[in-house]
Amino acid sequence: MEPTPGIRRYKAAIARLDALIYRIMEDRRSGKTSQNISDKGDALSMLMLSQDEDGSPMNDKQVRDEVMTLFGAGHETTSRALTWTWYLLSQNPEVEQRFHDELQNVLGGRAPTMEDLPKLTYTEQIVKESMRIYPPAWITTRQAAHDTTLGGEPLQKGRVVIVNIWGVHHNPAYFPDPWKFDPERFTPEHEKALPKSAYLPFGNGPRVCIGNAFAMMEAKLALAVLAQRFRLTLKPGHPVEPQDMFTLRPKYGMQMQVAVRQPELA
Ligand code: HEM
Repeated sequence: MEPTPGIRRYKAAIARLDALIYRIMEDRRSGKTSQNISDKGDALSMLMLSQDEDGSPMNDKQVRDEVMTLFGAGHETTSRALTWTWYLLSQNPEVEQRFHDELQNVLGGRAPTMEDLPKLTYTEQIVKESMRIYPPAWITTRQAAHDTTLGGEPLQKGRVVIVNIWGVHHNPAYFPDPWKFDPERFTPEHEKALPKSAYLPFGNGPRVCIGNAFAMMEAKLALAVLAQRFRLTLKPGHPVEPQDMFTLRPKYGMQMQVAVRQPELA
């Protein structure tokens, strides 16, 4: 049977990603064996140089699979988080002003360093509140390991439960006026008062997102660099509506106008 056009596109996309990943792996090798891989100190080097207990390295397909997971799980999620954050900032000038006051106080027009990150507390609150309203990974799943009950309902071993992260984040019991963008909800005191699973943009428990800390760092750095240089405003009349695909994406894209604030950072 002929594959459908959708399946053909899917296979072509996988082939493109495979070619890209295998090429990067090949570039990383100065010779043909794992002993000759140059250690660049990044995730790919770690994967290519990692060894089993018996000393054997991963084969190319295994490294490729790990890279694909990190790429797939880490790229679209963080980019969605940033997209929604820019949108929310553009709609909330008071928050935007406070954000810029923090950038000015902490960075004063220069690029952020690792040491600056803990000081960008309001920036962090902004990212957290943005991921509350628009959680990039809006659902996750769990499978019952044994017969049990959930909310009084019987749940058989093997049944899959969908966890609606988006719904949890909009519960007015914990987040009054849930559509209001209010980074004050994530001051350390307020955050501490939240029950454990009232806020879970990265999931929870043993399978919590492994990229959690990396994603927060990446988002804060990207915001701090870009916001000092550019001002983003929503294109007038552009419709904004969340669409619950695999990640929570803006249904019509997010068309924004870019104005330069500062051509280069010090
Ligand atoms: C804003 C960015 C991100 C969000 C919102 C996000 C969200 C999530 C969520 C909700 C889960 C499911 C957790 C659960 O079921 O308890 C997950 C799992 C995962 N994430 Fe992320 N993620 C982000 C960034 C990243 C990055 C940057 C990476 C890697 C570099 C990554 C790698 C993974 C992996 C490998 C898993 C599966 C973990 C497991 O099953 O043990 N994620 N993520």
